[in-house]
Amino acid sequence: METTFAQISDFIRSRYPGQDFIPLHEPRFSDKDKAYVMDAIDSTFVSSVGAYVDKFEAMCRDYTGATYAIAVVNGTAALHMALMLAGVQRGDLVITQALSFIATCNAISYIGAEPAFIDVDLKHAGMSATALEAFLNDVEIRNGVPVHLPTGKKVAACVPMHTFGHPVEIDTIVSLCDRYGIPVVEDAAESIGSTYKGKHTGTYGLLGTFSFNGNKTVTCGGGGIIITNDAQLAKQAKHLTTQAKVPHRWEFVHDQIGYNYRCPNLNAALACAQMEQLDAFIADKRATAQAYEAFFGSLHISFLSEPAHSFSNYWLNAILLKDKEERDAFLTWTNDNGVMTRPVWALMTHLDMFRNCYHDSLENSRYIEDRLVNIPSSVRLNPSES
Ligand SMILES: Cc1ncc(COP(=O)(O)O)c(C=O)c1O
Repeated sequence: METTFAQISDFIRSRYPGQDFIPLHEPRFSDKDKAYVMDAIDSTFVSSVGAYVDKFEAMCRDYTGATYAIAVVNGTAALHMALMLAGVQRGDLVITQALSFIATCNAISYIGAEPAFIDVDLKHAGMSATALEAFLNDVEIRNGVPVHLPTGKKVAACVPMHTFGHPVEIDTIVSLCDRYGIPVVEDAAESIGSTYKGKHTGTYGLLGTFSFNGNKTVTCGGGGIIITNDAQLAKQAKHLTTQAKVPHRWEFVHDQIGYNYRCPNLNAALACAQMEQLDAFIADKRATAQAYEAFFGSLHISFLSEPAHSFSNYWLNAILLKDKEERDAFLTWTNDNGVMTRPVWALMTHLDMFRNCYHDSLENSRYIEDRLVNIPSSVRLNPSES
């Protein structure tokens, strides 16, 4: 087994020559990034108002094809806002995946709503449309409200997540939810640049959210984007994230409880520079994914590749090992030998806060939880090499 681990480690090292320690995903910064940040500092507009915030929003609109984009402090705040805007309230149920990063569930919990966990699809590790259909069989419309019969709760939203940048079957998910009047908020935190049937992830749902955290494909340190095609929701998003301040030249009037969630101009400057490099980053990441896929194919180790009808940004590459024992041995060996690897997140249902939440069998989620390992996926230092 150790021989195979050494072979894998050597191959990963060959993608990232000259690095002693190979991180899972490190950001890449160029002179352009530094110049834009310096420009924001020189302008003195470093907080939530500034030309780079407007530019960042415009770039995200252009890139995703959404009509509106609102820049916020991070992807978690983007999700929190999007769920509020979708109408989620205390005591409601929100359908999501047990296999996701904690932020998805935290955002649901900030509102006092409760997640209902359904299984993921083995093809892409994101929400399974089949599991959603089964869940919805237990939902009945009562006085215009979708009610989940086993819990008696209102189903207020559905939050699929495009895991590691691989798109879910979002068209099917949205049309299933439409039948019940359930709004879809896409957690597209990991999938900037990923499209499904030619349309950007995040644009199928009522709202979509992205993260620009330091470990993402492009980063601005900390930042997020909410996208939507609904003018009213976009206006509300901007208002709520700006302390609900009623615009006035000097008066301080706030017409509801708001949030200080606006993205600072300083971060937006970095975001603009990174967005300009996004296509080049994705091309490099896809070349690495292709090389990994061929290599792991030769070892008969399964590799998570882009699903049908999709273009994936391959944010984090992932392999599936034989069982948990092999997974743990691989994690130990690689991390002991300077190659950073990580298991997938623990299922949300294992955490105390969500242990008692409704869930289906989670069969695929458990299978993936025991076997999946993320392997180094950064853009290479010299992306011109093939
Ligand atoms: C699936 C998912 N949702 C939400 C987030 C939250 O984004 P942020 O870290 O920018 O708050 C992340 C990443 O960090 C994520 O991976």
